[in-house]
Amino acid sequence: MSHIALISASVRTGRVSHRVALYLQKYIAEQTMFTTEILDLNHYQFPLFDERLQYQKNPSAQVLEFAGKVMKADGVIIVTPEYNGGYPASLKNVIDLLYKEWHHKPLAIATCSDGPFGGTQVITSLAFSFWKIGAWLVPGKFQASKIKETYTESGEATNKEASDKAAAGFLKELLWAMNLSRKQ
Ligand SMILES: Cc1cc2nc3c(=O)[nH]c(=O)nc-3n(C[C@H](O)[C@H](O)[C@H](O)COP(=O)(O)O)c2cc1C
Repeated sequence: MSHIALISASVRTGRVSHRVALYLQKYIAEQTMFTTEILDLNHYQFPLFDERLQYQKNPSAQVLEFAGKVMKADGVIIVTPEYNGGYPASLKNVIDLLYKEWHHKPLAIATCSDGPFGGTQVITSLAFSFWKIGAWLVPGKFQASKIKETYTESGEATNKEASDKAAAGFLKELLWAMNLSRKQ
């Protein structure tokens, strides 16, 4: 059975992009047989990056757990807010922390903003970072805007039809890459 890890990147007090991670998890459960898990960076609260995992002498149990979960996932969905046109430090922290875990990993990026543009600018820097580290980034887009109006705290979409349509196209790209990856 394939497994998808969703990384919820925001650690901001009062964050709302986590709602999108909850929605996508529900959508995958409704539409596929895949297992999922949300890797919530707010839960992990990793300290500021000081060295890559492969060079750490005494990595914490939490870091090892996180790395293991990314490694074992057949595909990864990143759910990220846009801060000043870029992605949050919490996410950069874990991109730099890992290396082999990202390599050839089928990966899709869902961008979020509480404004009207769905975090469309964050993709530029984030896609570049994941390309640079060797992840297999798929071109599917999921751009969630006005999140407080469009998703409830528990991740229910207020316009389920529109959200599900966007999620279907997004997931299709990730599944294509996961399928190809399995054959390697
Ligand atoms: C420091 C900061 C910078 C932001 N910059 C942007 C931005 O460049 N573009 C945008 O659309 N929204 C921006 N926003 C609004 C966020 O999209 C909005 O706060 C959203 O809820 C962030 O996700 P979060 O609640 O999960 O942290 C910014 C918010 C913060 C806190």
